[in-house]
Amino acid sequence: MNTIYPVVWSNNKVLLIDQTSLPSQYTLVEISRYEDMAKAIKTMIVRGAPAIGVAAAYGMYLGAKDIQTKEREIFLKELDKVAEILRQTRPTAVNLFWAISRMLKTAYETIGTVEEIKQILLKTAQKIQEEDLKTCQAIGENSLPILPKQPAKLTILTHCNAGALATAGYGTALGVIRSVWAANRLNRVFADETRPRLQGAKLTAWECVQEKIPVTVISDNMAAHCMQKGLIDMVVVGADRIASNGDAANKIGTYGLAVIAKMHHVPFYVAAPLSTVDFSLETGDLIPIEERDPSELYQIGNTVIYPDGVDYYNPAFDVTPAHLITGIITEQKTVKPEELITLKSEFSYQSS
Ligand code: MRU
Repeated sequence: MNTIYPVVWSNNKVLLIDQTSLPSQYTLVEISRYEDMAKAIKTMIVRGAPAIGVAAAYGMYLGAKDIQTKEREIFLKELDKVAEILRQTRPTAVNLFWAISRMLKTAYETIGTVEEIKQILLKTAQKIQEEDLKTCQAIGENSLPILPKQPAKLTILTHCNAGALATAGYGTALGVIRSVWAANRLNRVFADETRPRLQGAKLTAWECVQEKIPVTVISDNMAAHCMQKGLIDMVVVGADRIASNGDAANKIGTYGLAVIAKMHHVPFYVAAPLSTVDFSLETGDLIPIEERDPSELYQIGNTVIYPDGVDYYNPAFDVTPAHLITGIITEQKTVKPEELITLKSEFSYQSS
């Protein structure tokens, strides 16, 4: 049973697993101010689309609890400012914007004293967290009927970390893998290393080791070779934002993986909660792609690995076109990308 919870509410504070120091150190970072939560999201102490949604929801409560007024209007104005700071942290994962909107909507719609609104905001953050845990477990369950029938035990390739660390605690893509493992249908996981930040090698591999799920780490440029050799039965990845037409943004390198999966007739699935779908966007080219600091590319630890005088481009995500995706596994059911729109009514809180 998984016991990795990246965000924990405890004694009026949030405890975050510091994902920048795994796997060499397991440390918890205490967060009691919303500004520190914004920093933790930006610096990727907490990362992964649903996890930053949960973290931002608690960030909203931490900001709310420190607003020193009994006047509702002043309180809501100050809360808008907290929301804006949290929105500025990472642009691609829509769960962040969705969670902040849901918290704001709750505050605006609650009739009561400022103190009562604050208490309801804490409950809403906890609810977002609990819902995500259940949602990810449902995604895992929903993957079982769509698994390839052969071989009896599957080798599944995944990219980045879409595990417990990236969610409230079970995972989307790695949640699927957990469920396949529990159903005795898993041979092993192939984890792409995931340059430049190595979430696959550091985080996915760490999660698998915690649960004794057999895992083989490969560098990203080995995936095509592994598929050509017939080593991979299925690819499952997470997503940061999915447009209405099924185009899916995920960690840089996902698109290339989808291309080679298609080439080798390997089924390519995206596992994501409906909170990752941005129904306001028609296609994936409207998804904002975060660019991160070039030091992620040119530096390994404290060692600079590139010569002086080169330029850098460091997009953190890419968009996989819907036609390369076999299916999207959600908490409701698995759909073809073009059917995603039919789930719109199942999901009530949209980002604004
Ligand atoms: O930059 P990161 O580490 O936040 O990127 C994470 C990913 O791309 C994940 O695959 C995605 O957020 C899905 S997490 C369930």
